[in-house]
Amino acid sequence: MRTDAHAPTIRLADYRLPDYLVESVELTLRLHPTATRVNARVRFYRNPARADEGAADLRLDGRGLTLVSATIDGVPVPQNALTEDSEGLTVAAAHVPSAFVWEAETEISPETNTALEGLYMSRGMYCTQCEAQGFRKITFWPDRPDVMTTFRVRIEGPADGSAPVLLSNGNLVGSGEGWAEWQDPWAKPSYLFALVAGDLRAVEDHFTTASGRDVLLQIWVRPGDEPRCAYAMDALKRSMRWDEETYGREYDLDRFMIVAVDDFNMGAMENKGLNIFNSRFVLASPETATDADYKSIETIIAHEYFHNWTGNRITCRDWFQLCLKEGLTVFRDQQFSADERSAGVKRIEDVLRLRATQFREDAGPLAHPVRPTEYIEINNFYTATVYEKGAEVIGMLRRLVGPEVYRKALDLYFERHDGQACTIEDWLRVFENVSGRDLSQFARWYSQAGTPRLKAETDWADGKFTLRLSQTTPPTPGQPEKAPLVLPVAFGLLGSDGSTLEAGLLEFSEAERAFGWELPERPVLSLLRGFSAPVIVEHEITPADRAFLLAHDSDSFTRWEAGRSFALAELTGPEGEPDPAYLAALVAVADDPALDPAYRALLLSLPSEDEVMAQIAAVGRAPDPLEVWRRRRALETAVARALGDRARALYDSNVVPGPYTPDADAAGRRALRGRALAALTALDPAGSVARAQYASADNMTERMTALSLLVSRGLGKKELAAFHSEWRHDRLVIDKWFTVQAALTPPETAVETVEALSRREDFDWRNPNRFRSLIGAFASGNPAGFHRADGSGYRLVVDWLIRLDSLNPQTTARLASLLGTWRMFDPGRQALMKAELERLAARPDLSRDTGEIVGRLLR
Ligand code: PHE
Ligand code: ZN
Repeated sequence: MRTDAHAPTIRLADYRLPDYLVESVELTLRLHPTATRVNARVRFYRNPARADEGAADLRLDGRGLTLVSATIDGVPVPQNALTEDSEGLTVAAAHVPSAFVWEAETEISPETNTALEGLYMSRGMYCTQCEAQGFRKITFWPDRPDVMTTFRVRIEGPADGSAPVLLSNGNLVGSGEGWAEWQDPWAKPSYLFALVAGDLRAVEDHFTTASGRDVLLQIWVRPGDEPRCAYAMDALKRSMRWDEETYGREYDLDRFMIVAVDDFNMGAMENKGLNIFNSRFVLASPETATDADYKSIETIIAHEYFHNWTGNRITCRDWFQLCLKEGLTVFRDQQFSADERSAGVKRIEDVLRLRATQFREDAGPLAHPVRPTEYIEINNFYTATVYEKGAEVIGMLRRLVGPEVYRKALDLYFERHDGQACTIEDWLRVFENVSGRDLSQFARWYSQAGTPRLKAETDWADGKFTLRLSQTTPPTPGQPEKAPLVLPVAFGLLGSDGSTLEAGLLEFSEAERAFGWELPERPVLSLLRGFSAPVIVEHEITPADRAFLLAHDSDSFTRWEAGRSFALAELTGPEGEPDPAYLAALVAVADDPALDPAYRALLLSLPSEDEVMAQIAAVGRAPDPLEVWRRRRALETAVARALGDRARALYDSNVVPGPYTPDADAAGRRALRGRALAALTALDPAGSVARAQYASADNMTERMTALSLLVSRGLGKKELAAFHSEWRHDRLVIDKWFTVQAALTPPETAVETVEALSRREDFDWRNPNRFRSLIGAFASGNPAGFHRADGSGYRLVVDWLIRLDSLNPQTTARLASLLGTWRMFDPGRQALMKAELERLAARPDLSRDTGEIVGRLLR
C-alpha cells in the first residue's frame, strides 16, 4: 500500500501541546540484520496542560514496524482498543489511564532499510539516524521534539559476534559478553537517540572542562582508520575550549563519542553524547584529504559539538522552529572558524556559500521563510534558508545589539530555557528583555521569504554627501506582498587618499530613507561592509570607484566585493577586452605581500558559472550556460595574461616548506599557489606545470589542484588512471576521482563522461557519498555540461533520481531540488527540464520526499 502521494500538509498554525508526556523510557534492542527486536517500556502520563480536556486517545507514531505485543500496566491492550495504520497506532481513550507503563515489542529489519533513517546497516555496522522522524521506525512513540525524556538503553549484540562494540547516548552503566547498557541522565527528544554497533576501534583522548571535570573523548572508526582521526580530535578539543571561553558552555557528560559511518544522508548528527558522522567529515590524512576537507571537518565537528547546548539542552518545540537550533549553531560554528582561522577570509567564504545555495533557493520555486509555516516532508526543510540564512539573521541581531548585549542575551537564553523545547518567540523575547528593544519588525526576517534588494543612490553637492537607501523584496511562492525589514547596513566613506571620513552602522528599516554627511571632499562609498545583511545590493558604481575600493577599502569583504563586481560586470556586459583598470587592480593586489595569501587567492578567483548565471537572470535575461562557461574561460585567460610573469613568481615563492600541515596559513599559501597554477595552465595547452605538480605532490591538496586543472582542460587521462589504481581501495578518495570528472570535464564530453562513469562497477550508487560524487557533482558543479542544449544532461540525472528514489527518498529529494532553476533558462531548456520534472512527478511510486519537491518545482 502506498499512501505517500497523499501525505497531508503539516501547518505551524495547527500546533497543539502533546496529549501525553513521557517520564522515562527503557529500551532493549536485540540486534539481528533482518529481525531486530525492540522492547520499549515507557512511563507515560497525561500532559497536565491538557488534563482539563478529559481523557484522550494515545496516539503513537510508527512506520514500517511489526508489532509483536503491547501492554498497558502489564495487561495486553485488547484488540478492539488498538488500531494500526501506516503512520502509527492509536489506543482508544477509554483504555488509557492518566499515568501508566506502556510496553511494546516490535520487530524491524535494519539490513533492508535503504532509506538510512531509523536503524540501518552500513557495511556490517548497525547505526541509527533519528532526526527528524526516524525514531518512529524503531518503535512506536510520540515522535515530536517537545516530548523529552531520559533514556536507558540495553543493547544485545547480534548472535554471530560481528558487533562487539555497542554504543548509545550518555554514560555506560553496565556491560558484559554481547551486551551493554547506557543511561543518559539528560532528558532529550527522540530525534537525539542514537545506537551504534559494530567492529569498531576507538581513538581516545581526554578533555578537562573549565570546572575541572575529566571527559573521555572517543572517535570510533573501522579498524585501520585510526591514523586518520587526529585532526578531528584536535578540532573537537578546540571546539570544547572555544565554547567555554566564548559562550561559557561546558560539556555535561563523562564521555563524548563520535562515530564515522560510510553510508549517511547528511553531513553529521548531534545525538546526545554520541555524534554520528558521515566518515568524510571525520577521516583525514595529508595523503587523502584536501585543505577544503580539513576545513569542513573542523567546522562540522564544531557544529555538532555546539549543538550540545544549542539544540540538545535547549531544543525545538516543533520542526517549524528548526532554525532555532540550526541557524544559531551555524552562526556559532562560523564564529569559531573565524576565530581559528582568518575572519575576513571566512566571511567571504560564508557569503559565497550563502549566495550559491540560499540566494539560489530564494530565487526559485522552493523559496520559503527561515521559519516555514507548512511542510509535507520535514526532511525537505533542512535547507540553506533554514541553516545559512538562519545564521545570517543571528549575525544581524548581534550587530544590532552589539557583542556585549548579545552575550548577555545568550546567557539569559541558556539560563531561562535550559531543558526546554522552545520557539523563535522565546528566542526573540530573550533579546527584547536584555536589550530593551522592540524586535517585532525584526521578527519579519523569520516569516518573510525572499532576498531583499537594497538600492543605494548617492549625491554630492555643496559639501554634503547624501545616501538614499530603498528596499524591496520580490514576491515568493505564497507571499506576493512584502514588508520592509530591519537592515543593519555597515558602511564607510573613504577620502581620496584612502582614509576613513565616516564609518558606522545604519539601521535601515523603512521602504526608503536618506542619510546625509557634511564632508570635506566627495567620498567613495563602501557599502554593506562585512556583508552586514543578506541582501542583494543594487548600486551603480563607476569602474574608477570600484578600482579605488579594490585598492584601498579597509574592510576586507567590501574590498573583495569590489573585485567581484568588476568581474561580474566583465562577464555579463557586452563582450570585449577586459577593462584595463580591473586587470591592473587585480595584479596589484595579487602582488601585495602585505595581504594574507588566502585572501589574495580569493581576490584572484573568478565568480562561479552559477553566480554569473544568477546575475544575468537578475536583470531579466536567460543565461546560456555554455556561453557563460566560454566567457569565463576567456576572462581567466585575460587575467592570466595580465599576471604575466607574476604567475610564475607567485607559484615559485609560495611553496610551503616542510611536511604538510592543515593550518590556515599553510592552506592559504597553497590556495594562492593554486591560483597561480591555474593562471599558468590557462596559457599552457599541454598543462606541463600542472602535470609536474601532480607527479611531485606529497599531499592530496596539491594533487587535486593539479588534477582538477588538467581535467578542466580536457587533459589528465594518464593522471586519472594512475590516481584510480593508487586509491581504488579507498572510498573517500575514489569519491574525489568521480567528482573531479563529473564537475570539471568540459561541456563537449561531460554527459558522455558521466554516463560512462555511471556504468562502472565501482559506481556504488546506493552509497549517498558515491551517488553525490557523480550525479550530484555533475548536476550542481558542471552547469555547461548539465544544461547541454539537447537535454541529455537532464535525462541522465533524472534517470538516476528515479532509480535512487525507491531506495533513498531523502537524498533523491535533495538532489531533485537542483532542477529548481528551470524557469531561469531559455524556452528550449525550460521545456526540456520541465518535461524531465514531469517524468519524475509521474512515477507511480514516487516517495513523499521527492513528490513534495517536484510538486513545488512544477507549481
Ligand atoms: N541536525 C544535523 C545538523 O545540522 C543535520 C541532520 C539532519 C542530519 C537530519 C541528519 C538528518 O547538524
Ligand atoms: Zn546542525
